[in-house]
Amino acid sequence: MTREAHIGAVLTETQALVAAMPMLNDFVCDALEGLQRQDLPPRHRNAVDLLQQNAGLPTCALTAPLVHAIKAAANELHWSQSYTEAQVSAHFLEHSGWFNLVSPEGPYLHQDIRVSIGYWHNGLHYPDHRHEPEEIYCVLAGGATFRTENRPPVDAKPGDLIHHPPNIRHSADMTDSALLAIAFWKGANLLRPSDLNT
Ligand SMILES: [Fe+2]
Repeated sequence: MTREAHIGAVLTETQALVAAMPMLNDFVCDALEGLQRQDLPPRHRNAVDLLQQNAGLPTCALTAPLVHAIKAAANELHWSQSYTEAQVSAHFLEHSGWFNLVSPEGPYLHQDIRVSIGYWHNGLHYPDHRHEPEEIYCVLAGGATFRTENRPPVDAKPGDLIHHPPNIRHSADMTDSALLAIAFWKGANLLRPSDLNT
């Protein structure tokens, strides 16, 4: 498969997942249709190797096709990190990473929706953070304990959705399992990094 086909397959399987889940469909509406491409060069992160080596990470029938497409495309994607070593730790940065699939900067362009996919390896704790855009996470593989202010913790598994209104404080604990998740953001300041520990 070509690089373009690999990235296209990630979008196609994301569209299929959204179509199959009414809550995601209501959130995203038709924003994933007819998107323009803006190519971003491949950028590797250590987390890509950890994800690809983690063959036994459990998934479910609904998310397995997207997980397969992500792993197949992983070396073609523009992986990023949000934080500095001083904010989190070198260990956190070496064991996590994410890429945008849809955003105002591509690789599929949209001004009002951001879709990103991230991997956090076993044993990580993603500390409290908040952001202005409204968010829905969908666990694709593995799982995590999501902690959101004023809610009981949720042990989320593949296919589970976690909704965060704007600016609500939340964290995720990967003590028991690695996590591969897709996040849908909607609202202002889509590219602004989250505020940590506030
Ligand atoms: Fe979030």
